[in-house]
Amino acid sequence: MKTDLPQTVRLADYEPPAFSVDAVDLTFDLEPQRTVVTAVLQLRRTGGAPGGPLVLDGENLDLLEVLVNGKKLSPPAYETSEDALTVFDPPEALTLETRVAINPKANTRLEGLYVSNTMFCTQCEAEGFRRITYFPDRPDVMATYRVTLRGDKAAYPVMLSNGNNVSNTDLGGGRHEAVWEDPFPKPSYLFALVAGDLAMVEDRFKTQSGRDVTLRIFVEHGNEDRCDYAMDSLIRSMRWDEERFGLEYDLDIFNIVAVSDFNMGAMENKSLNVFNAKYILADASTATDADFANIESIVAHEYFHNWTGNRVTCRDWFQLSLKEGLTVFRDQEFSSDQRSRPVKRIQDVRALRARQFPEDSGPLSHPVRPDAYIEINNFYTATVYEKGAEVIGMMQTLLGQDGFNDGLRLYFERHDGQAVTCDDFVAAMADANGKDLSHFKRWYSQSGTPEVTVTSAYDAGKKAYTLTLEQMTRPTPGQSEKQPLHIPLRIGLLGANGGDLDLVSDSGALDGGLVHLTEERQTVTFTNIPDRPVLSVNRGFGAPIALNTDQTDADLAFLMAHDSDPFARWEAGQQYATRLMKAAVTAMASGEAGDPKGQDAFVAAVKNILEDNSLDPAFKALAITLPTEEFVGEQLPVVHVDEIHAVRAALRRKIGADLQAEFRAAMAANEVREPFAPTAEQAGRRALRNAALAYLTADYGPEAAKLAKESFDRADNMTDTIAALSILTEVDGPERSAALEAFETRWKDNAQVMDKWFALQAVASRPDTLSHVKALTKHPCFDIRNPNKVRSLVGAFAMANPVRFHAKDGSGYTFLADSVIELDSLNPQVAARMLGTLGSWRRYDADRQALMRSALERIVAVPVLSKDSYEIASKSL
Ligand code: PHE
Ligand code: ZN
Repeated sequence: MKTDLPQTVRLADYEPPAFSVDAVDLTFDLEPQRTVVTAVLQLRRTGGAPGGPLVLDGENLDLLEVLVNGKKLSPPAYETSEDALTVFDPPEALTLETRVAINPKANTRLEGLYVSNTMFCTQCEAEGFRRITYFPDRPDVMATYRVTLRGDKAAYPVMLSNGNNVSNTDLGGGRHEAVWEDPFPKPSYLFALVAGDLAMVEDRFKTQSGRDVTLRIFVEHGNEDRCDYAMDSLIRSMRWDEERFGLEYDLDIFNIVAVSDFNMGAMENKSLNVFNAKYILADASTATDADFANIESIVAHEYFHNWTGNRVTCRDWFQLSLKEGLTVFRDQEFSSDQRSRPVKRIQDVRALRARQFPEDSGPLSHPVRPDAYIEINNFYTATVYEKGAEVIGMMQTLLGQDGFNDGLRLYFERHDGQAVTCDDFVAAMADANGKDLSHFKRWYSQSGTPEVTVTSAYDAGKKAYTLTLEQMTRPTPGQSEKQPLHIPLRIGLLGANGGDLDLVSDSGALDGGLVHLTEERQTVTFTNIPDRPVLSVNRGFGAPIALNTDQTDADLAFLMAHDSDPFARWEAGQQYATRLMKAAVTAMASGEAGDPKGQDAFVAAVKNILEDNSLDPAFKALAITLPTEEFVGEQLPVVHVDEIHAVRAALRRKIGADLQAEFRAAMAANEVREPFAPTAEQAGRRALRNAALAYLTADYGPEAAKLAKESFDRADNMTDTIAALSILTEVDGPERSAALEAFETRWKDNAQVMDKWFALQAVASRPDTLSHVKALTKHPCFDIRNPNKVRSLVGAFAMANPVRFHAKDGSGYTFLADSVIELDSLNPQVAARMLGTLGSWRRYDADRQALMRSALERIVAVPVLSKDSYEIASKSL
């Protein structure tokens, strides 16, 4: 907690560390309320002013002792402050020993060493290690670690840390000791320990060079039989990384621990990944298909960090995307190979648009490599992660897969064991391919989503088709002037029969089907085009941009039916639906009648998709799902919350009513009759079946209630249960409470499943939702100290229920501000994440603007506010 004004940290001020640490020896005497940590550091001066003091980071530590080269120091030889230990006149090389006491049980921030249920665990990224011991807590200080854990044998039979378990000793008196050594030098943020009474599941993996690796997943007792999918995902990830990138695991042991209280998804600590239990535990009765897919991709993500993050790490936290963008790219590639590539791409683009685009157009917009922060925890963002992954993906597009692999190989050759920058990464890519990527690199430093406008002209006489491409990026905070970016656009021209025409052009910008847009304005002329073609542009969403085109409704319907690029087929439907909804919202907001007739052609296009036997069910489910209310809102000058909700609901009702027979047929055809399996194939059928059910029940009337309740009662897996329950939460009538109660009775002892029950009620669009949400904060299963619970209830309400969160009377904003203020004193990192939605206040009408601002002002005015919440709230105003 800071009462003085928080300091901004700047990339431009980077200085190499004054002291490096070669080796760390840590001893933990574990007690929930008083753990004593002894640290012996081998330090060596590597920079800074000659003779300058040795300054170590440390927060919330009770310092018991300091020794230099075995000699006890006392002030003024050293000094402590709120966040540092300073040793004056240090030798150029020294052994520093400190002993501190900490209180893990009181650690509600869940950063550093804390207690979750009864187990000890750690979270050190980004700056949690300084809450464990005094240390130069920055990623460019890499050391080898030897860790001794001592604790009660009955309470903590399992004691884990990074690397290899080199000894175990009974200490007598009911205590024991375990020693772990990690041979790979690592930054402090990758340190981890876990101690507890845990169950374990074990498997093995043989690497391509023949190393036998023991794989273990540790969970709370009773969860052993819900680890199979995570273990299988881990094994598939290890194999995939060898096959795709030649990257092999480097130790004989790999451990995963699932914990109930965790601020994020998971953490890639060297050989000891710590996971939010939600992303490990799964079986048919408790997990949805989406949960299985998340487990697969997050297990892979953390495993992939072993090379992209751990073996090569970040020089400083501005380079966070060096490891995160690259590792997200890798996990996306993995999932694409395991499942359907087009379906994965569509899902990733949906997520990018839902989270990254709004971030990039709002007050918190920042580049993939930010140049300033107050609290680094606030920069684990969709921009650093997902836009960062898009930038990596564009490099692969520019270099080709072989060229990209060569670049990655050179990157590891040059930088294995180092802490490096995004520049180093791009240099390896460029050098391995003999390419100049300096223009492309602007993607790292320029924030904002580029808008590309494409206009077309067909010259029937010359049989020539000309595209004019223009790019523009709007100003963002701190960047009023924007430069053109290198935007690779995959383009297709469809002929009258729906097939792709050959692309012939003398324009240098065209390279295969790829147009390199590098300037503000370029034209490309295609020759030999017999008739005016239909344009398909930014196929595969190869560049993370917003697009304006002169495509007609008929063009979009044509692309929906024929585009050879599945992503573009889906995208055409989204654009078409968005266009219709925008028009209806604008009409409604100005009191005019809409044009429901214009919607018939769209419904016909949806019918086409449903009946197209060449399409797989997972794709169809996505293609018939309308863009979200949030997405439509972003395309409008002012977000008309109520009108958008009404228009989207009406369009869903219309589609449901017009295509009743088709949806019934789709439900019947996609009923899964085999035993449940978490495969992409079954998941696709369930998705389509449930999308059809949602259309058939879109009016939430008595018939809908009956149909959904029937489906709920019949469901034998969590996916179908949740699909039915999400409809039932919207209806009025006895089915709603019957289903909610049945679910609660069955699952009240399973915290992870109850999270779904909270979230469903929080996102219901019914007018009484906020009062339900408030009542649910008093439910025995709710706990404000558990991040998953907060995200399920408060987070879901504020981030996934636009029509109720933005209620005209401001009640949603007041609730959020109250929750954030209460949470901030317990867990600032999670509190700050909750309040991001208020930052979009400029996008709403004047009344809502005022209400949202005053909620933000109330937060900023809290006398003892965390840096985390202060940064988000103050920048939002
Ligand atoms: N580095 C983690 C990941 O992306 C995320 C994380 C950040 C977890 C900070 C905890 C704290 O895999
Ligand atoms: Zn990561």
